[in-house]
Amino acid sequence: MTDGVGPDARRPTPDHDWWREGVLYQIYPRSFQDHDGDGVGDLRGIIDRLDHLAGGPESLGVDGIWLSPFYRSPMADFGYDVSDYCDVDPVFGTLADFDDLVREAHARGLRIVVDLVPNHTSDQHPWFQESRADRTNPKRDWYVWADPKPDGSPPNNWTSAFTRRQTSAWTLEPTTGQYYHHSFLPEQPDLNWWSPEVRDAFDGILRFWLDRGVDGFRIDVAHRMARDPALGDNPDYGLAPDELLRTWTDETAPRDQDWPEVHAILRGFRTTLDAYDGRMAIGEVFILDPARLVRYYGDDDELHLAFNFSFLRAPWSAAAFRAEVETFERLLPPGAWPDYTLSNHDNPRAVSRYAPDGDLQRGRRRARVGALMLLTLRGTPFLYYGEEIGLADSVVPADRVVDVAGRDPARAPMAWEAAPAAGFTTGDPWLPLSADHSIVNVAAQRQDPRSSLAFHRELLRLRRSSPALRGGRYATIGGLPEDVFAYRRDAGSEGWVVLLNFGEAAVDIELGPDLADGRLVLSTDPDRPTGRVVGPRISLDADEGWLVRR
Ligand code: NOJ
Repeated sequence: MTDGVGPDARRPTPDHDWWREGVLYQIYPRSFQDHDGDGVGDLRGIIDRLDHLAGGPESLGVDGIWLSPFYRSPMADFGYDVSDYCDVDPVFGTLADFDDLVREAHARGLRIVVDLVPNHTSDQHPWFQESRADRTNPKRDWYVWADPKPDGSPPNNWTSAFTRRQTSAWTLEPTTGQYYHHSFLPEQPDLNWWSPEVRDAFDGILRFWLDRGVDGFRIDVAHRMARDPALGDNPDYGLAPDELLRTWTDETAPRDQDWPEVHAILRGFRTTLDAYDGRMAIGEVFILDPARLVRYYGDDDELHLAFNFSFLRAPWSAAAFRAEVETFERLLPPGAWPDYTLSNHDNPRAVSRYAPDGDLQRGRRRARVGALMLLTLRGTPFLYYGEEIGLADSVVPADRVVDVAGRDPARAPMAWEAAPAAGFTTGDPWLPLSADHSIVNVAAQRQDPRSSLAFHRELLRLRRSSPALRGGRYATIGGLPEDVFAYRRDAGSEGWVVLLNFGEAAVDIELGPDLADGRLVLSTDPDRPTGRVVGPRISLDADEGWLVRR
């Protein structure tokens, strides 16, 4: 608590389920809005643009923001290498700016979810500086240290997730002659969560932000925090990594992630969260096997939500998305709630990913179909900044690449208006802008009722006003052409039908008598007349989706 203002005074009306029915919007702080003109986005910039999100007549109408890290950091991984968990990096502003952001967001009814990076710190964190100094340092066991093999090589075969820089997940510390473990860069040493002191330190960090009024945490690599304490080798499966992530079993699981103890750590976080009112945690659990993913909900005592990366990575096909949704619905424990996302700061944007042969026009049409699905499925949707305007990946020339894993294209600055640097900054943007930002930007789309922004606003408005879309039952509609993914959302007497054509061609659909009297409320095609009764036979264009009210 600061400035004598209690957390509840800063938060919107308590509502325990806000994270179930609300729509969350991810902001990558470096790229949303620059306030001070240094070319890098900052917290003041986010405050400047809050009206775009909620509270104003032209707002998009989302319910919360997830902020990627803004903590003190040497930026080896653009903030996912934290050197002080309880302070704001000067490039993003100050703690006072953060408090203002919380106050301004809450005044608009927007929740604030912040990133928590518990798997690793920066190598510049004072904890690691102490830990690395000598073998008897009290913080030695805060990190994962191990002796070299007799031939001097790393202790085991674990590999780093950032193989462009270095394959082994171990780096030798010459001062003490031991290796330390890092799941990511050598600049990101992994913490040892078997240490009770590490657990206590993070409990304090959670409380620090909860007391400042944050509504939740997105937990970075939540499945990696524990690893085999015996440091056994990972088996060599001879499978491609994605295939492996879909198929491992308890017996064949790797030893450096998804280790059972991770669930106890998450239960500890949950106990802390539950002592506050209406707070939540969503985990980045990059496990593509849904049966293992759902374990992270625990018995309603671990994560409230776990990101579903299998859905995000699904190919553009009705069968693939239908299978993802049905499987998640079937496997989630009773009472657990799904969540979906199609873009984030680590993956190509949906518009670019779905563009066949790089055809962005088609990519944008498909992205609208994706948005209709995302915002009408049963589950919490996460929108990535820029998705609402159909922002594409930017083209980043070799001499502008700054990210260690080449993720820069999806992190291009937000496009606000047809102005130099798209209104993002008065300086030089830290990354190249998306190529068509002079056309694809917020100001231009506000004037255009056919725009992606208008489509998203309307869809969000419908969702907000509908108990069935926000929280109703889900049921697949079967027996339709194979390129169509269709489902119902129902609550009480209110019902909707969503019809999505993933195919390359128009498709004719016979609707049963119980669906034929529905009204077309929204199409992804802005030229399609709406409001009429659909009738027993309908035709959806290629890359078209319908929202029908029954
Ligand atoms: C996942 C984050 O989303 C990604 O951006 C980061 O590089 C790694 N975790 C390491 O923290």
